[in-house]
Amino acid sequence: MSTTSRKSSAKEKEKEKETLKAQVQPQQVCATEEEDDLGPQLLAKLEGNGITAGDIKKLQEQGFHTVESVAFAPKKQLLTIKGISEAKADKIIAEAGKLVPMGFTTATEFHQKRSEIVQLTTGSKELDNCCGGGIETGSITEIFGEFRTGKSQICHQIAVTCQLPIDQGGGEGKCLYIDTEGTFRPERLLAVAERYGLNGSDVLDNVAFARAYNTDHQTQLLYQASAMMSESRYALLIVDSATSLYRTDYSGRGELSARQMHLARFLRTLLRLSDEFGVAVVLTNQVVAQVDGSAMFAADPKKPIGGNIMAHSSTTRLSLRKGRGETRICKIYDSPCLPESEAVFAINQMVLEMPRNNTSDCNPSSILLHSSVLIL
Ligand SMILES: Nc1ncnc2c1ncn2[C@@H]1O[C@H](COP(=O)(O)OP(=O)(O)O)[C@@H](O)[C@H]1O
Ligand SMILES: [Mg+2]
Repeated sequence: MSTTSRKSSAKEKEKEKETLKAQVQPQQVCATEEEDDLGPQLLAKLEGNGITAGDIKKLQEQGFHTVESVAFAPKKQLLTIKGISEAKADKIIAEAGKLVPMGFTTATEFHQKRSEIVQLTTGSKELDNCCGGGIETGSITEIFGEFRTGKSQICHQIAVTCQLPIDQGGGEGKCLYIDTEGTFRPERLLAVAERYGLNGSDVLDNVAFARAYNTDHQTQLLYQASAMMSESRYALLIVDSATSLYRTDYSGRGELSARQMHLARFLRTLLRLSDEFGVAVVLTNQVVAQVDGSAMFAADPKKPIGGNIMAHSSTTRLSLRKGRGETRICKIYDSPCLPESEAVFAINQMVLEMPRNNTSDCNPSSILLHSSVLIL
């Protein structure tokens, strides 16, 4: 069952939920007749019709764990697997195509599906509003900005909020956290957990963490991620940051095209995971000073790295910059359906919140409940 499509059915569940651990177990939901065409289907479903258990094993070894992953893969990629012949690849694609709808649908149906998409709260009401309700599941959100602008803080925050029940702005799923800069701090998760009155050790258990050491390694981790996601319910995959290792693994103009190709493969794998499992993918990105002539005219001469490849892969791009003191400003830089707008929040000891002098019209109770406050 994918994360994106759980909203309406989950609403019907009883309010009382047990521990977070229990929440991430596959759950019984009411819309049973819909279940079959929702969410990832395990690869074992393909067995039979000329596809053997051995073939399934070969696919799994190459990171294919669901029927969707095979259906979405180009034939060329299947042919690179040792022991998969052209005829076999055709067979696999044909069988996968029978199980995964890949043709046209009406805009009405698509609209209905989109209305069920779960959004994860950032914990800050302002920020959520600015993002059209929160971080969208089933797509890639990129957060970029200079160092100290709060990118990692937001990642820590949503690593916890994604575990909340759907009616509280969560995704009822676990979080997978890939850290490339060594800035992951479980203490911060505990602080957020405390803010939401959640059990700290459950919250930590629900976050699978890996430190990535080079660009090949960070790509490899995604294959493990797909295996883990096919076994239990994840709502969020964080890569903090997606690009820093590319800056050190590849240097100079001579390696630029190799770097972009590798990055494109990495981002494509992320996109596949978000499609396949309906998880929200959040990645952070650094910025560099623009060196071309346009810098003179731009109000903020910093631009995110990764070039067009990054720009095209991220569905929503959020830009962060420092405001006065502890305040930070988030701006929608690019989105398929949101206007350019800004939100202000602040990072402090316990919380990431609206700055004190902010004249927002939220009433105090909504501030408490919804936490216009992003706890970090
Ligand atoms: N426990 C905390 N209390 C208050 N501010 C904090 C705390 N932890 C980190 N910060 C602030 O968060 C900022 C760093 O944010 P971070 O998300 O790590 O930046 P980025 O990832 O964009 O480089 C720093 O300004 C730091 O002072
Ligand atoms: Mg950081």
